[in-house]
Amino acid sequence: MIISPCIKGSSRKGGLLTTGIHGEIDKQRPLSTKPRLDKRGSLPRRSNPLLSAGPPARAGVSPQALTGFSIAILAMSTYCGYLYTSYQRDVEQSRYLQVPEDVSDRFNQIARSYDSAVDLGERLMRLGRRRKQLVRMARGDILEVSCGTGRNMKYYQLGERRGVDEKGKANVHGCRSLTFVDLSPDMIDIARKKFETLYPNFRKVSFIAQDAREVGPSFYLKGKSAPAKPIVLQSASNTVSWTTSQPYFDTILETMGLCSTPDPVGLLRHLELITEPERGQILLLEHGRSHYDWLNNILDNLAAAHADRYGCWWNRDIGKIVEESGLEIVEIKRWHLGTTWRVILRPNSHRQERDERVSK
Ligand SMILES: C[S@@+](CC[C@H](N)C(=O)[O-])C[C@H]1O[C@@H](n2cnc3c(N)ncnc32)[C@H](O)[C@@H]1O
Repeated sequence: MIISPCIKGSSRKGGLLTTGIHGEIDKQRPLSTKPRLDKRGSLPRRSNPLLSAGPPARAGVSPQALTGFSIAILAMSTYCGYLYTSYQRDVEQSRYLQVPEDVSDRFNQIARSYDSAVDLGERLMRLGRRRKQLVRMARGDILEVSCGTGRNMKYYQLGERRGVDEKGKANVHGCRSLTFVDLSPDMIDIARKKFETLYPNFRKVSFIAQDAREVGPSFYLKGKSAPAKPIVLQSASNTVSWTTSQPYFDTILETMGLCSTPDPVGLLRHLELITEPERGQILLLEHGRSHYDWLNNILDNLAAAHADRYGCWWNRDIGKIVEESGLEIVEIKRWHLGTTWRVILRPNSHRQERDERVSK
């Protein structure tokens, strides 16, 4: 008789049942109920019910678990204490710091460490996904302002394809050309190198170190002081300067840039002037104030120290900036307790106002 694979071949000598090598009941040997004694006359360890039962089950938590738990609590409270102390120190520091509104010069100093400094945070917040979604909306002649080290670079779909939009109208998808602009020559130089590694054969691209409020044909800058001469970054594979005469871009994109520029409303108004008036779009992914007061208090308390160190005012009200710019709001979406903002804008359809602004 086959008993069960898990006890196949087992035997319990001195017990009520014995099985042979393949699990058949051993019929030759009579079953004995008398326990066998060893040489000293005591019960063998296995047969002694008091010993074979093992130590009685102990109720509650084992000492090892208790020790582990205590160490974890200690580590956590030490870490929270450390966070709290550094928060207090930074709040104190922020209170007395005299930080100018324009902190954009910080980026030349932090350019080399910028990517490694923001990588982990962006991964935890899964920002790559948001960047990709935004960049995939870009089409035609594209201008990316405040491009930094080119963290959006890998999401561009190069090459123009003709198709139809959601209303069935003829449309272009993909990038016809790309123009990258950033105030910091060190940041944009990293972007240029990334681009050339990723897309060595794409020629319609320019990298310009310039204030984004001065991009475009000079007639848009009437009445303003003469702009600083843009630095066009030379490179073997790029065609440069070819965009400087074109009046409009089909898409203007900016990520995490409104926090770093001294005049965000002025920047958006300028971008409106160089966006194609009928079908052009301005795509933004920004960070700023939250939905929640408690978080806004933390952002406010630490804003000066953060701006001084990282060149970014993280407590700006992106919604208010966008409203003040007067551009047409197509969509606003928010994530991460409301601190991450995706904003899609169009040039204001009241062209008269816009034309007046140009001729001022
Ligand atoms: C926080 S970084 C963001 C970089 C990048 N867009 C990203 O998503 O990681 C802000 C960038 O804006 C640039 N910037 C600040 N003010 C600018 C201006 N007026 N014109 C052009 N770039 C500007 C800085 O040099 C810096 O590279």
